[in-house]
Amino acid sequence: MAGMEQELWNSVDAYFSSLLVEQDEALSKAARAHVEFDLPDLAVSAPQGKLLHLLARLGRARSILEIGTFGGYSSIWLARALPSDGRLVTIEWERSFAEAAAARLAEAGVAHLVEQHVGRALDILPTLDRPGTAPFDMVFIDANKSDIPAYFDWARKLARPGAVVVVDNVVLGGAVAEPDHPDAGVQGVRRFHEQLAGRTDVVATSIQTVGTKGYDGFTLALITG
Ligand SMILES: C[S@@+](CC[C@H](N)C(=O)[O-])C[C@H]1O[C@@H](n2cnc3c(N)ncnc32)[C@H](O)[C@@H]1O
Repeated sequence: MAGMEQELWNSVDAYFSSLLVEQDEALSKAARAHVEFDLPDLAVSAPQGKLLHLLARLGRARSILEIGTFGGYSSIWLARALPSDGRLVTIEWERSFAEAAAARLAEAGVAHLVEQHVGRALDILPTLDRPGTAPFDMVFIDANKSDIPAYFDWARKLARPGAVVVVDNVVLGGAVAEPDHPDAGVQGVRRFHEQLAGRTDVVATSIQTVGTKGYDGFTLALITG
């Protein structure tokens, strides 16, 4: 049954993508980065990439922070939403992934808009707290799950009031609803939601999704204070 559902979700995503999501060579190559590194598919799906692009454009984002570059797929979607003097700052732990992303960003014609950082996000984020870089208009958090609460604290510090924050992969196959789940990533996502519930300067919701990436979900947060 799960296999049949996945096939159905794939064909619906393929149908929507064929009509609404144009992908050039740079995006198509970035979407295949996991093949080069012999990894599972880590990038957002095509409709999700376009959703990030639309959110950036709806918020008229001029400066975007991304945590988790991988092969640059979501980075291209975000950078292409920026005005000609905009900037995407993106952080990746693994140098070989960042190098692959740099090649794709150049092919996409957006390298001049992108500042790539290589290293542990929690080491790099404090260095971005400087005029000319922060505040950001949008933040996309898509790296290791156990550190999401700390990433969100940084997003709150580095984003302006009115900024949107998107956090990917918050469903974890439904494990997010299990209070005693042993996985550190699941507990990170749970602490993040508890953190959101206690904040008066953020309005947020989390949405479950299905598609080529299976059963998943994301959090959308608006910084209000
Ligand atoms: C899900 S992938 C990002 C996918 C990308 N946003 C996309 O949609 O194309 C997560 C990435 O975060 C990186 N990462 C994991 N832990 C990290 C950390 N502590 N600091 C920086 N990057 C990290 C991983 O190496 C991986 O490339």
